[in-house]
Amino acid sequence: MVEKLCNLGVFASGTGTNFRAIAEACRRDDFPARVACLITDNPEAPALEIAKSLEIPAYVVPVTAKKGRLPAEAEEEMADICVGHNVDLIVLAGFMRILKTALLDIFENRIMNIHPSLLPSFKGLHAARQALEYGVKITGCTVHFVDRSIDGGAIILQTPVPIEDDDTEDSLLERIHPEEHRTYIRAVRLFAEGRLHPEGRRVKINEHGSKTT
Ligand code: GRF
Repeated sequence: MVEKLCNLGVFASGTGTNFRAIAEACRRDDFPARVACLITDNPEAPALEIAKSLEIPAYVVPVTAKKGRLPAEAEEEMADICVGHNVDLIVLAGFMRILKTALLDIFENRIMNIHPSLLPSFKGLHAARQALEYGVKITGCTVHFVDRSIDGGAIILQTPVPIEDDDTEDSLLERIHPEEHRTYIRAVRLFAEGRLHPEGRRVKINEHGSKTT
């Protein structure tokens, strides 16, 4: 029996398959979180349609600054929306902007991101392409806390995905995506149940403990 649901603020700039997977998990009776709001910087994001179909409040904070940058005012507006919805955990799901100020201050150790590689390998854009070009045999996905670095925050969960000889970037991403969905849902559940304990760079997981937060 879930006592208090953890409120999620999901940030997505694009397709939103991770957003959909998490939002659908949240509809299950035994899941300890709910999506309080979706925020996007992209008025054309397909994630907006998903939010509409699932009746999740959605906000567009359009950003005209060049790729990757998130101006301080936009970040403050996003922080205000999250605070207004009593968000406990921010979930970055294909959000293509780098957080720098307000959100990181208010939500320290309460912002997660998913990245399509086994970090610290292949940070930044096109991680699956980087893995193929490098020639690694195993890649995967990583859920990590967000800090001021790019894809460098403390690692929460990782799932490996083997690379096949005939893989292309698309075929590899097609296998990584379902693993991302499973891994992200598990990470959100662990957070919501108070089972994640960050200690410096290491995030200890109390798999069977009772809720502590
Ligand atoms: C995922 O591959 C995630 O790892 C990266 O952005 C992509 C988002 O995919 N950060 P989707 O929009 O959730 O389908």
